[in-house]
Amino acid sequence: MTLTLKTKNYYIMSNFDQIVELIADDLSAIEAKLTEHTASEYTFVDMAVQHVVEGGGKRLRPILVVLSAKVCDYEGSDAHTLAAVVELIHVASLVHDDVLDEAAIRRGRETLQTKWGNKVAVLVGDYLHARVLSMLVARRSDDPAMAILADTTQAMCEGEVIHAYKSGDFDISEDEYLKIISFKTGKLIAASCTLGAHLGTTEAQQIEALTVYGQQIGTAFQIVDDLLDFTEDSDKLGKDAFGDLREGKLTFPIIYARTVCNDSEKQMLEKMLHPDTDETEAIAFVESLFQSYGVEPHCLKVAQGYADRAKAALAIFPETPARTALSELADYVVSRES
Ligand code: FPP
Ligand code: MG
Repeated sequence: MTLTLKTKNYYIMSNFDQIVELIADDLSAIEAKLTEHTASEYTFVDMAVQHVVEGGGKRLRPILVVLSAKVCDYEGSDAHTLAAVVELIHVASLVHDDVLDEAAIRRGRETLQTKWGNKVAVLVGDYLHARVLSMLVARRSDDPAMAILADTTQAMCEGEVIHAYKSGDFDISEDEYLKIISFKTGKLIAASCTLGAHLGTTEAQQIEALTVYGQQIGTAFQIVDDLLDFTEDSDKLGKDAFGDLREGKLTFPIIYARTVCNDSEKQMLEKMLHPDTDETEAIAFVESLFQSYGVEPHCLKVAQGYADRAKAALAIFPETPARTALSELADYVVSRES
């Protein structure tokens, strides 16, 4: 079964737009929950919190909770609460990540620490976690969401700590890096799918299949995220392009380029990642290195491999619009431009 391709004002909707339209009512309900559960009676707290909560983004994780629940035949409103919960964990992690990365722009808006400083940013992240805990304890106590999310946030923190610790290590291996991204990004995306699955089924095979699907698209997502940092402009990304390079961060494309280039290019690359290097020179060098060694197509091929494994994991489910949407979402994660 395929999703019907619809035209709207002569505009052919992308697969992602169609998925959003398919679950538009769910997404509205989730937005309402996000606002309701994060509201603060204190004006400044509310302003700072809503700055990030309303700050757009694709809402990929909520979409995954809803589709995973639907693929397991669940249609109730608890999916909206769990979708809001995972989005809030994600937003909180980005608020803290932007402090760590000293990022100026996120989702097309100034980051919290640019607008109000590190203290406000750290505390707003903490506030969002407190709201997540309240939302979870208000739910049934006999379901596994609490344990899944406790494990997930622990792994995200571990991934970020290891990443920060390894940030100066020019020789980090591809395997080590893939492990880091499966923690810092893959875990929450996988948990979104696992939580959705638990709403509709108790069958271990189905829950495991959706978890695997989420883990695989999570890794694909971060590889593409790493690549877009070099290939897209800041307006499209909603954050500063070349941010990873400026920070001297070794990400998937750089690690691949380092592995395939010759010794003198390798030495030069190490120099280019140094904070004192002129930014324009570093960008020009890295762009020409990427061109010479086909770094962009390589990264897309590796990411597509993860997306294909994700799609294969869906084979145990009956062919429904929700399964088709999940399958197309896996491809979208690789083909997206922001
Ligand atoms: C973005 O990575 C960051 C993450 C995917 C995870 C951030 C996790 C933490 C800060 C650990 C704390 C988490 C919790 C839940 C307390 P990126 O910098 O590669 O992506 P970007 O370019 O979008 O910033
Ligand atoms: Mg970052």
